[in-house]
Amino acid sequence: MRSPKDFFRPLAVGAPTPLREVPVRPSRVIHFFDPGNEKMAAKVPQMVGSVDILLGNLEDAVKADRKEAARAGLVRIARDTEFGEHTQLWTRVNALDSPWVLDDLTTLVTEVGDKLDVVMVPKVEGAEDIHYVDRLLAQLEARAGLQRPVLVHAILETARGVTNVEEICAASPRMQGLSLGPADLAADRRMKTTRVGGGHPGYLVREDPPTTDGAPEIHAHRPAHQQDLWHYTIARMVDACAANGLLPFYGPFGDIADVVACEDQFRNAFLLGCVGAWSLHPVQVEIAKRVFSPSPEDVAHARRVVEAMGDGTGAVMLDGKMEDDASVKQCQVLLELAERLAATDPELAQRYAGRSPEWEGAS
Ligand code: GLV
Ligand code: MG
Repeated sequence: MRSPKDFFRPLAVGAPTPLREVPVRPSRVIHFFDPGNEKMAAKVPQMVGSVDILLGNLEDAVKADRKEAARAGLVRIARDTEFGEHTQLWTRVNALDSPWVLDDLTTLVTEVGDKLDVVMVPKVEGAEDIHYVDRLLAQLEARAGLQRPVLVHAILETARGVTNVEEICAASPRMQGLSLGPADLAADRRMKTTRVGGGHPGYLVREDPPTTDGAPEIHAHRPAHQQDLWHYTIARMVDACAANGLLPFYGPFGDIADVVACEDQFRNAFLLGCVGAWSLHPVQVEIAKRVFSPSPEDVAHARRVVEAMGDGTGAVMLDGKMEDDASVKQCQVLLELAERLAATDPELAQRYAGRSPEWEGAS
């Protein structure tokens, strides 16, 4: 184990000093694109400013014989695009046991490392994976003469990764956050699903049977309620991230047409503490931005509670409900996020000022 005194020293001579805090930037949506696909690549410049994070994907969904084209495409896009203050550029590199990852990291950091905010590393299993990437990135940063460190985001998508989630989060000051990878995680856990994220109609809880003369009618109509397959993992990921000052994200929702279930899944993640989700199609960008921004109604309520609570201690009654030191802290979490997002999004700022009634129904 490294001494805490050494934790914030660069891991290579000439590499930038590690950050002490994850930079605060809008992070509601990570929009995936294939940098080797010319049609998709051409749309990237138009998305700058309206998407919080643009991610050039090199891993799964890119065919083996297109890996090099995707990497070269991302270098081109990074060089030719001005991402501005509010849109970050990330990449998802290939897995650490693949033949491509060494060239992914070497090429991207040395050629466009100054444009790259975060490297997403898939299938992270434990702290040893982060240590490997941490040292390699420091060597490459030193070679490229970078002034700020490239951060690391790990995908939680193996049973071992979930088991080791706390040590993954604490493995390096370079850690920015985690995403749930439900598709790979389902396969690794040997879950019997075939979907990319979201729920399953077979995973449910059913009401007890009605009785006639004390005898249960097992086959009577008994309402059933679908449960969230991902609740445990998201909650565990959120705790590990919060305890280590990192940002948790829900991952992909593969049924692009089902915008309703996508919104539900994203909202569950938002309520549990996630800051954002992936988008696999432009339609999901809008869903994520809406869901991961506090609603104007919640913001207005939070403001009332904060005002009513004065110095934030004690208890008051508001609309028949007790508010105290703890509920005011929840309101402050919402307000802090709302104010941060409003500072970069004038439309949102207007909605928070005016409580637009269209907000809840907007799509
Ligand atoms: C994402 O990479 C997933 O496997 O769900
Ligand atoms: Mg995956």
